[in-house]
Amino acid sequence: MKVGILGTGDVGKALGRGFIALGHSVMMGARDAGNPKADAWVKEVGAQASAGTFAQAAHSGEIVVLATLGSATEEVLRAVGPDAFKGKAVLDATNPLDFSKGMPPRLIGAQGDSGGERHQRLLPGAHVVKVFNTVGNAFMFRPEFSGGPPDMFICGNDEAAKKKVAGICKDFGWGVVDVGGIDTAHFLEAMCMVWVLSALKTNVWNQAFKMLKK
Ligand SMILES: NC(=O)c1ccc[n+]([C@@H]2O[C@H](COP(=O)([O-])OP(=O)(O)OC[C@H]3O[C@@H](n4cnc5c(N)ncnc54)[C@H](OP(=O)(O)O)[C@@H]3O)[C@@H](O)[C@H]2O)c1
Repeated sequence: MKVGILGTGDVGKALGRGFIALGHSVMMGARDAGNPKADAWVKEVGAQASAGTFAQAAHSGEIVVLATLGSATEEVLRAVGPDAFKGKAVLDATNPLDFSKGMPPRLIGAQGDSGGERHQRLLPGAHVVKVFNTVGNAFMFRPEFSGGPPDMFICGNDEAAKKKVAGICKDFGWGVVDVGGIDTAHFLEAMCMVWVLSALKTNVWNQAFKMLKK
């Protein structure tokens, strides 16, 4: 499968490595062609990887991953335009966090709105699935915890897209908990805050969520 990843940060690189390890090909997109981080990543991971602009990566992917700075993602989607995403599963790993006043960051948007919903509204022909936003990049692929595989919480409106994304999560080594439609993305974005706030208190960042069931 061809995967377009928008984002050259730790998340874009970690997810990209995972897709490549599973035999997929990945184009990593940045604001400008010739982005040094994307070029270095391509050199590191090899022939199944390539780099381009956000628009080129979005057009190239059969699925597209959003791994851009949370507060800039809407601007990126407007600049690329909805056609590049039409009919595709869009894996939204972003969190709309405002770091302008330091740590901890502030979650942008009141309850009843979320980055996931705003991104879905900007991409009406695409199937946005919130995923990979509730864990640190170090554990996104093949997380190993003594308590067994952690759970990835996902939400989105399109059942077929969620099935595809759930399959990807399982291939990446995760259990999957489907929370509902994209109107529940606010809760998953707030879960990111739980992850960050608890880590700030203890300075322990190697944690992941798991839903225990009887
Ligand atoms: N870090 C984690 O462990 C983690 C875990 C879960 C979720 N997340 C979420 O995943 C997303 C990516 O996080 P990250 O830490 O990998 O990277 P990041 O530093 O949050 O974002 C890097 C990407 O955002 C783009 N960007 C930055 N400012 C921009 C602007 N003003 N306009 C357009 N694009 C801009 C960069 O473009 P260029 O490539 O052109 O520089 C780059 O591709 C974030 O939304 C974050 O909240 C992060």
